[in-house]
Amino acid sequence: MEARERAWRAEFPITERLNYLNNCSLTPLPRRGRERVERFLTEWTEQGGRAWYDHWIAEYEKLRTDIANVLGAKHDDEIAIEPNVSAGLVGIASTFDYTKRPKVVISDLDFPTDGHAFLAVAPRGAQVEFVRSPDRVRVPLELFERAVDERTAAVCTGHVYFTSGWRQDVERLAEICHRKGAALVVDAYQSIGAFPFDVDISGVDYLVGGTLKWLMGGPGIAFLYARREVAERAQPSAVGWWGVADPFAFDVEHLRPGEGARRFEYGTPGVAAIYAARAGIELLNEIGIETVRERHQLLSQRLVDGAREQGWKVRCPTDARERTAIVTLEHPDPESAVTSLRAAGVICDNRPGLIRLSPHYFNTLEEMDRALALLRPLRVAPVLA
Ligand SMILES: Cc1ncc(COP(=O)(O)O)c(C=O)c1O
Repeated sequence: MEARERAWRAEFPITERLNYLNNCSLTPLPRRGRERVERFLTEWTEQGGRAWYDHWIAEYEKLRTDIANVLGAKHDDEIAIEPNVSAGLVGIASTFDYTKRPKVVISDLDFPTDGHAFLAVAPRGAQVEFVRSPDRVRVPLELFERAVDERTAAVCTGHVYFTSGWRQDVERLAEICHRKGAALVVDAYQSIGAFPFDVDISGVDYLVGGTLKWLMGGPGIAFLYARREVAERAQPSAVGWWGVADPFAFDVEHLRPGEGARRFEYGTPGVAAIYAARAGIELLNEIGIETVRERHQLLSQRLVDGAREQGWKVRCPTDARERTAIVTLEHPDPESAVTSLRAAGVICDNRPGLIRLSPHYFNTLEEMDRALALLRPLRVAPVLA
């Protein structure tokens, strides 16, 4: 193993014991994340509420800047910090006037919360229309081109789909939406930290994501990007006191929305999560997104090629340029397959009908080969009629 691979792995003690291939669900805690959370515990223990003013509010604002940098956002006030992606989407769904444009277009490959946030505003007039992936892998742009019309308020879809790893072309999708006067809301949870991305160039109106997957920053922190002009016009009805213009005025009688995307924030954040999130983003910045992308392609391709050689039906795109490091293999009983892999020290996950393996940059080719050796006997040959 090269020296740099050894250094990468040293950040993740879990690699000493396990072949960890579930990073698109949750990357394990890096050493520096643990150190930062311990720093938070010391501040809390020694300072109590004073720590808000001496440390925590400043950390919160630094996290906003870190997220803006990762996304390529030009202004910090295009970023709202959220407790999870669902909360961000609820805020976004609350801004549209569905009496004028009732339709919201979502795909059937999207994560459930993308649909739920808009189905929940049906009583306010929203009509959700699902476009259907023809192959359960991709959602071709032509489907959106046909579905989006002058009655459409928004398209809400993934940048990378969680069961196939396929990357949507959000730039072209933004062009389709804007030509027809609709907004584009992108769920980028599976792409940020895996692909180089510039939110400004992308043309999206809103984007949501979080830190627990490729950003290595754990659960409890997510984010919402709203393009400056969009944010300033937005009037979310899902609000909280941290999202107003001057929270420390403690004015119960007036609601003045905060600057830009800040108006999408709710209440007191989970401070430990801020510390872990900042550590994860710092680590990504040190490694470099180009290196991450290169490693993802190398490692996931080894899995895809090896699985195909063994006769597996691979669901994700077989060309690494089209997908992230999500490798999905079809299996009639993925839960039991994942359990037996776990017993042999390989940690991966299952989704309906699929075994899902997701290496990150710190995994090695040897680990891919070991996982493949364990997968071989688990393949169920198709029954021929
Ligand atoms: C694409 C995508 N969107 C949303 C979520 C869930 O978001 P949250 O639990 O932060 O609401 C996930 C995974 O957990 C996901 O993969």
